[in-house]
Amino acid sequence: MEYLVIKYRYVFVILFLLPASFFFDIYFFIRNKIIFAMRSAPKQHQSRVENVQNQIKQWQNSQPRKKMCTARPGWMNVSLRPGQYKKRSHQIAVNLVDILNIDTKRQTITVEPLATMGQISATLNPLGWTLAVLPELDDLTVGGLIMGTGVESSSHVHGLFQHICVSYELVLSDGRVVVANEKENSDLFYAVPWSYGTLGFLVSAEIKIVPAKKYVKLNYQPSHSRGESIKLFEEASNDETNDFVEGLMYSSEEAVIMTGTMTDNVEPDKLQLTVLAIIGNHGFINMLKIFCAEGPRRNIFLYDIIIIDTVVDIIPFGNNVIFRYLFGWMTPPKISLLKLTQTEAIKKLYEKHQIVQDMLVPMQRLNESLDVFQKEFQNYPLWLCPMKLYKVPGFVKPASKVEEMYVDIGAYGEPKVENFVAKETIRRIEHFVTSVKGFQMLYADSYMTREEFYKMFDHTLYNKLRDSIPNCKDAFSEIYDKVSFAARNT
Ligand SMILES: Cc1cc2nc3c(=O)[nH]c(=O)nc-3n(C[C@H](O)[C@H](O)[C@H](O)COP(=O)(O)OP(=O)(O)OC[C@H]3O[C@@H](n4cnc5c(N)ncnc54)[C@H](O)[C@@H]3O)c2cc1C
Ligand SMILES: *[C@@H]1O[C@H](CO)[C@@H](O)[C@H](O)[C@H]1NC(C)=O
Ligand SMILES: *[C@@H]1O[C@H](CO)[C@@H](O)[C@H](O)[C@H]1NC(C)=O
Repeated sequence: MEYLVIKYRYVFVILFLLPASFFFDIYFFIRNKIIFAMRSAPKQHQSRVENVQNQIKQWQNSQPRKKMCTARPGWMNVSLRPGQYKKRSHQIAVNLVDILNIDTKRQTITVEPLATMGQISATLNPLGWTLAVLPELDDLTVGGLIMGTGVESSSHVHGLFQHICVSYELVLSDGRVVVANEKENSDLFYAVPWSYGTLGFLVSAEIKIVPAKKYVKLNYQPSHSRGESIKLFEEASNDETNDFVEGLMYSSEEAVIMTGTMTDNVEPDKLQLTVLAIIGNHGFINMLKIFCAEGPRRNIFLYDIIIIDTVVDIIPFGNNVIFRYLFGWMTPPKISLLKLTQTEAIKKLYEKHQIVQDMLVPMQRLNESLDVFQKEFQNYPLWLCPMKLYKVPGFVKPASKVEEMYVDIGAYGEPKVENFVAKETIRRIEHFVTSVKGFQMLYADSYMTREEFYKMFDHTLYNKLRDSIPNCKDAFSEIYDKVSFAARNT
């Protein structure tokens, strides 16, 4: 039975999940358009915040007082990891889902925490704006990207998602509503990113926007040796005339480095909009692989790219022409719906045979990092995304005295090394990453011990705030106790 369920899962995906994802998105698209047009969300905001405050008051009077966390069920978020800690916690419903304000003078947008990247883009793009850093999956939420982290191909200019945030509004464990920015409550402002909801509940955030043009002109540069790949990637990352930079390593040596600039003018013969909609992600990655083999430099215009997606592995004939014409435009299915309908067997299978990891390492150490990924995973393509790490107080900052260029190395899929044992391999990678002053993105499986975790992430400011906010340690567990493998799985 399990064998059949796994083998023929695509039948279910095509007949049910793809259409369901489609209607789900349409429903929210229309709902959000209406709410935004009516400007009703700003009026509701206050009472929604009071609702969170009231729930905290109830918690204060509850016996015994369990730790608090948001009530959003695990299957709804993008992370593929389970969250057993939720069951043990006192859950607070934070149902704040709307866009509150767009201020083109200040160049910011103010949103509630469950607003998603797709929703924000659908609102901003027609007005000629976009988020300065726009993480790629439509379902990623502002709350998750601030309390966790976010990175994208404009991060070589703007930094991580947290670095484009100007101000946060939070409800703390004593029930107070506070605003935190560079001037007001600045310690809290710098401690919130990566804190996984353990300093308070986020109820809104003000985020930087930049003018957007209609198209992105992409330039693909294939390279066939490690040295050349790194050189091209580093040069592109340091060049701020590139709006977007990312790389795909197809082997230990070969890569395609992509740079993008926004433009309003399009050369019609090079417009790839339709093609891309039809080929889907895998097709796109394969197309680049062919460029990589052929060699010549080309320019293509793209409207929108969705990157490597492990979910497409489920549909074995996803690259078939007929499938692409019929269903390509509907892919990929929503991760949340896939997760909701996963059986235990599938979960176990993924845990054993799939990795999903992003490691942030200094650009200076990219070469040796690629050696380590080759030795431990042999999993290609690897995603390379350059990101500026600002020297600001908090959990994650460069070891050097000034801001420093880092690279997110993303490994998604099935490792090709023999005898892959997730825990052991990932522990070795975690050690390596700490040794080069790098960081692990915590949506993924993390096997570090508490001491190792403290070594990777600077807890000084975080601990100071946990000590000074009334009730905080009673109210919220430590980050480690939410993100470690043990906390999520037992
Ligand atoms: C397949 C896949 C693809 C990905 N692609 C990208 C990508 O392209 N770019 C990128 O940057 N990242 C990517 N990620 C990682 C992603 O950034 C993290 O998973 C992110 O934290 C997810 O956010 P979410 O909206 O699902 O948040 P959640 O997982 O719901 O939230 C994250 C944490 O924040 C806390 N939190 C959320 N809202 C609040 C609130 N209002 N108050 C207090 N605490 C709160 C939650 O309790 C939780 O601990 C990807 C992950 C996967 C699995
Ligand atoms: C997503 O939800 C699961 C289950 O609640 C949780 O373990 C995980 O930490 C959440 N994602 C992130 C990025 O924190
Ligand atoms: C990368 O590291 C290898 C050793 O692992 C070395 O031989 C090579 O010269 C290095 N390349 C660059 C570009 O630094």
